[in-house]
Amino acid sequence: MSQNLTKSNNSFTSKPSPLCTFLFLTILCILGFYTVHYPPRNPKNALLFQQIFLSSASNYTISSYLRSLTSHPHLAGTKPSFETIHYVKSHFENLGLETHTLPFKALLSYPIHASVSMHFYNGTVLDLPLNEMGISNYSSLGLVQPYHAYSPSGTAQGKVVFVNYGSEDDYSVLGVMGVNVSGCIVIVKKGGSLSRGAIVEIAEKKGALGVLMYAEGDVSRGSFGFGVERGTVMKGVGDPLSPGWAGVEDGERLELEDNKVLDRFPGIPSLPLSFESAQLILESLRGPLAPQEWRNSGRSKLSGVGPDQVLLNLTYQGEKKLATIHNVFAVIRGLEEPDRYVLMGNHRDAWTYGAVDPNSGTATLLDIARRYALLMRKGWNPRRTIILCSWDAEEFGMIGSTEWVELNLVNLGAKAVAYLNVDCAVQGPGFFARATPQLDNLIFEVTKKVKDPDSEVATIYDKWITMNGISNIERLSGVDSDFAPFLQHAGVPSVDIYYGRDFPVYHTANDDFNWMINHADPFFWRHVAMAGVWGLLGLHLADDPVLPLNYLSYAEQLQEHKNNLSSFLDDSVSLTPLVTSIKELQSAAKRANDEAKTLMEQEFTDDRLALKMRALNDRLMLAERGFLDMDGIKGREWFKHLIYGPCSNQESNLVFFPGISDAISESMRMSQRDGQAAIQHEIWRVARAIQRAAAALKGELT
Ligand SMILES: *[C@@H]1O[C@H](CO)[C@@H](O)[C@H](O)[C@H]1NC(C)=O
Ligand SMILES: *[C@@H]1O[C@H](CO)[C@@H](O)[C@H](O)[C@H]1NC(C)=O
Ligand SMILES: *[C@@H]1O[C@H](CO)[C@@H](O)[C@H](O)[C@H]1NC(C)=O
Ligand SMILES: *[C@@H]1O[C@H](CO)[C@@H](O)[C@H](O)[C@H]1NC(C)=O
Ligand SMILES: *[C@@H]1O[C@H](CO)[C@@H](O)[C@H](O)[C@H]1NC(C)=O
Ligand SMILES: *[C@@H]1O[C@H](CO)[C@@H](O)[C@H](O)[C@H]1NC(C)=O
Repeated sequence: MSQNLTKSNNSFTSKPSPLCTFLFLTILCILGFYTVHYPPRNPKNALLFQQIFLSSASNYTISSYLRSLTSHPHLAGTKPSFETIHYVKSHFENLGLETHTLPFKALLSYPIHASVSMHFYNGTVLDLPLNEMGISNYSSLGLVQPYHAYSPSGTAQGKVVFVNYGSEDDYSVLGVMGVNVSGCIVIVKKGGSLSRGAIVEIAEKKGALGVLMYAEGDVSRGSFGFGVERGTVMKGVGDPLSPGWAGVEDGERLELEDNKVLDRFPGIPSLPLSFESAQLILESLRGPLAPQEWRNSGRSKLSGVGPDQVLLNLTYQGEKKLATIHNVFAVIRGLEEPDRYVLMGNHRDAWTYGAVDPNSGTATLLDIARRYALLMRKGWNPRRTIILCSWDAEEFGMIGSTEWVELNLVNLGAKAVAYLNVDCAVQGPGFFARATPQLDNLIFEVTKKVKDPDSEVATIYDKWITMNGISNIERLSGVDSDFAPFLQHAGVPSVDIYYGRDFPVYHTANDDFNWMINHADPFFWRHVAMAGVWGLLGLHLADDPVLPLNYLSYAEQLQEHKNNLSSFLDDSVSLTPLVTSIKELQSAAKRANDEAKTLMEQEFTDDRLALKMRALNDRLMLAERGFLDMDGIKGREWFKHLIYGPCSNQESNLVFFPGISDAISESMRMSQRDGQAAIQHEIWRVARAIQRAAAALKGELT
């Protein structure tokens, strides 16, 4: 494969017209003149440094970082994880970057003992294997056995029912078949839209005593079938003992018995199972025949859904303990605007070796650090401050990033330009992006400059378009990586990018260096592509004189959201408040874009212009904060963003406006009048949030 390179605009290579030549000479004169007065910040330099950044790509360095990072497991709060902290920290230090480490104390959760046995009516007892293939002794490998963090300890014994993905709809189907899971243990197939925590929460509500989960994997991509998916079942994000504030060393901490803490954990035990162990249970089930769709989807030998004579004993014993976690930072101070922050973050802690999750991202971050340090040696200093962030304890519930955001809320609110997240950088083929809409254009522009790792000549952008018809940027309503506190709590414009959509060894002991080179990225060119996109996004946000944030895209996206929302509603509620506020945002966005254009045309003149530019940039930065609401989403008040955030009903098709989505779900349980009023109120709240964003973008008092 070839080097990562800049795809040059064709117009530069075609024969120049006399007008072009004239303009070119004029620009040269202007640049020549102004570099005397205001060096070294000019677009030519910025372009040059982007070129150097792209041409300094190396698949060798990224590969060697990943090899080191994955040389042993490094679960958050455990001793081996300290070596990984040290590795990242010394890498930053050795590059000469300003480096610091910030510890927090948080309640983490580890397993002590787990067993699942089947008791047949003829007296036979079968202990199900809970280990992954080839592993007889986890502790000798430094690996944590498969478990669900924050599951309560206890024994559940009962008959078994297969509940498909464990959604409300699935339980309704069972209800129609006359199957009631109350007093039973349910077995669930992972892979629907529900999070692990939501699956357990629903099962508990239905009266189940315990939950077993398995994933079907994908044998063709090396899942071996025997991997077992670890994961957290905690509700919400951040340290459960310091909800809403930072878990600093000597800070306030709730008691473990506090109801606010207990509410964060499920009330029934749960465990993950391998596909093979799950088969032993599913094969034994009699009872009503499972619906065809439930049987079609996989490799399983399911016929009945249960319950049957067979009794299952699920026993889990774990400990929750206060552990020290560490975030590591490298800071590259901005020259002109040191008090404006561009944050680039990835978590470092892993359930096992973490080759994909998350250290493909960590290796990429370390390579960006190497290349930024190289630019600095060549005379580059960013205009704004860049902070490279390596988070801890993301796997337990975004704890490292959440505590840090809570600690720095005011400074982030006033000074953070954007947060660029990468979690599993490389999972397989194909580029994917999620972002807040004002960053769409920048993502398109940057992906036009980076070579596609899987073709000879195409850019990532070209390939992205041919794959999907259009380049599709998704939104950030999910609560599944470290962007959640930045966007959903602090209102910082955010991006999350990755290669490949999912991978069969997710959270298993098989997520190691060998799996990466055998199944996801043999020569590390997808890693290189990720570093190109991520690093260029950072350079633009840190160096572009006018921030590359376009709120017209936001207004358009909101318009589309509004149209989609209308398909969920009848005429009894009015969407006019939304229509009006979106128009306001649109006109503010147009004005801001015009101002930006004017300012860019008259760059590098005097200080007054620099101040004007700064004032416009502040409006562009702060507009996103307008979508925050102090009261937050009802019932989940920590989530302050009214456009993007989690819905209480995770199966809702409405994946934006979480407050409205919730009101629609709840209205089913209310009188028609109360339901309509609740929905209308949430519509007004969103409309006011959009108005606040528009006002911030206009930057004037009314
Ligand atoms: C009891 O039943 C199970 C499941 O049908 C079967 O595998 C086992 O061999 C039986 N044991 C005896 C002693 O019959
Ligand atoms: C597993 O390995 C640990 C550490 O090497 C050792 O102390 C322990 O005895 C082993 N357990 C078993 C069951 O072999
Ligand atoms: C299931 O059984 C429990 C206990 O017998 C009962 O309380 C509950 O109402 C039943 N659920 C349904 C949906 O019938
Ligand atoms: C369930 O299994 C656990 C662990 O093996 C055991 O201690 C417990 O007695 C069993 N419970 C029942 C009711 O058999
Ligand atoms: C880097 O890429 C080259 C060309 O594809 C390949 O031969 C080499 O093995 C790669 N290096 C690593 C460490 O993967
Ligand atoms: C919104 O509606 C359009 C058109 O019906 C549909 O294609 C799209 O998937 C919907 N998007 C969401 C997020 O619901």
